[in-house]
Amino acid sequence: MPVFLGIDIGTSGTKTLAINEKGKILASAMEEYPLSNPKPGWSEQAPGDWWTASVNSVRKVMKAAKLKAADVGGIGLSGQMHGSVFLDKSGNVIRPALLWNDQRTAAECAEIEKLAGGREKLIHMVANPALTGFTAPKILWLRNKEKKNFDKTVQVLLPKDYVRFRMTGDFATEVSDASGTLLLDVVNRKWSKELLQKLDLDAKLFPKVYESEDVTGVLSDSAAKEMGLRPGTPVVGGGGDQAASAIGNGIVDRGVISATMGTSGVVFAHSEEVQVDPLGRVHTFCHAVRGKWHVMGCVLSAGGSLQWFRNQLCQEEIVAAKKQKVDPYELITEQAASAPAGSEGLFFLPYLTGERTPHADPNARACWIGLSLRHGKAHMARSVMEGATFAMRDTLEIIKSMKIPVKEIRLSGGGARSQFWRQMQADIYGQPVVTINASEGPAYGVALLAAAGTGAYKNVVEACEATISVVTKTAQKTAAVKSYNAAYPEYQQLYRSLKGDFAAIQKLV
Ligand code: XUL
Repeated sequence: MPVFLGIDIGTSGTKTLAINEKGKILASAMEEYPLSNPKPGWSEQAPGDWWTASVNSVRKVMKAAKLKAADVGGIGLSGQMHGSVFLDKSGNVIRPALLWNDQRTAAECAEIEKLAGGREKLIHMVANPALTGFTAPKILWLRNKEKKNFDKTVQVLLPKDYVRFRMTGDFATEVSDASGTLLLDVVNRKWSKELLQKLDLDAKLFPKVYESEDVTGVLSDSAAKEMGLRPGTPVVGGGGDQAASAIGNGIVDRGVISATMGTSGVVFAHSEEVQVDPLGRVHTFCHAVRGKWHVMGCVLSAGGSLQWFRNQLCQEEIVAAKKQKVDPYELITEQAASAPAGSEGLFFLPYLTGERTPHADPNARACWIGLSLRHGKAHMARSVMEGATFAMRDTLEIIKSMKIPVKEIRLSGGGARSQFWRQMQADIYGQPVVTINASEGPAYGVALLAAAGTGAYKNVVEACEATISVVTKTAQKTAAVKSYNAAYPEYQQLYRSLKGDFAAIQKLV
């Protein structure tokens, strides 16, 4: 019986896992690498590090699961989206890759909107507005600021597709990740000739686009040797980390939504047709399910806000947790639970790193509003968790306003681990939430795509149905729903009131 490998090229490291045909995880391994911030707002990585980490993590997994090269039936690739790898005519990397969280391209976003003939026309062509994190503005930045490097560039690849190139020698991508370049005609699932023309970018710069479960190539002799695998092993398209993670959560049907509270927070909905928010607040991308799409919103500091709170203000809890041999989050959550729902009028806006959904505002900043003598650390902890969850509700509300049904909300990430935060999510979203048996994220999703793409399943929907099931359900509590419903409009109003101040504050720093 074949096994399948999923490789996820993340921002902090590459995670590889092996599953059997039933979806059981046999082993997993993580290899880390550094992130570089050469200037404020810049975020870069060396693509060579991704390759080294992929090789090492595959070798570790093969060893840990005692697998032979011939056991591997297929490989799926996932990765951080939107990053830009620039290659010269010999296939060498020209400069470090600009990543999804790089903020240097505000001027290029404005340039793209102008060249496209306005924001509306741009959304019409590629289903999304220009955001600093996306790939197209990065390419224009290279043309504007490093002309020599731009002139040497013959191919632009996304992070996971660079690893694919090293594995197979092929230039290929797939629809879900390609959607985040801002250059894909999301409706027709192919590069937008119209926008490429308007931006004066040569179509030859971009790889061939496949559906996510299609085999895009096979492992070359040299890559197979390096990875300890069999030459000729098929490699499927895979997916951008969000679509791949959604596959890993079984979000392959209308009405099933995921809310993933990691460092960032993502609310993700499957969609049978292309549905675009006319205000461009959520992303409309191709899904990793053949012929389907998805809508998603990304809160930049969701779990990241609680992490900040822990690191900056909870030294006592960290020391106590060490003594008690528990996770500091357990003690912080216990404190938070001792404050009432709504934190007695204390609000936390979670915009520590600016915001993407729904505000697309790099100037937005975090703050507590409403502090009084009554408030203590318990209220502060609770309000941070409530603020992050209200931010996720913002995306959920937009999705509902687009008439996408929300029948089931599947939680994952750190926010799904504690019963307290699961209850808070049910109460703030105003409906039951569930968790599932799989919690391995994008690497698991692309291992399923590899299983489906190489024939172990008819398609990825069948693969998800066979391997993923609901394990817990938390119903909302009426009284808490009532108090959160009363507080939510005020939470929303606070950003509107403070928007101008956030911009003014940024001019001072
Ligand atoms: C998705 C996004 C992030 C990155 C990094 O739009 O920007 O999820 O893919 O994980």
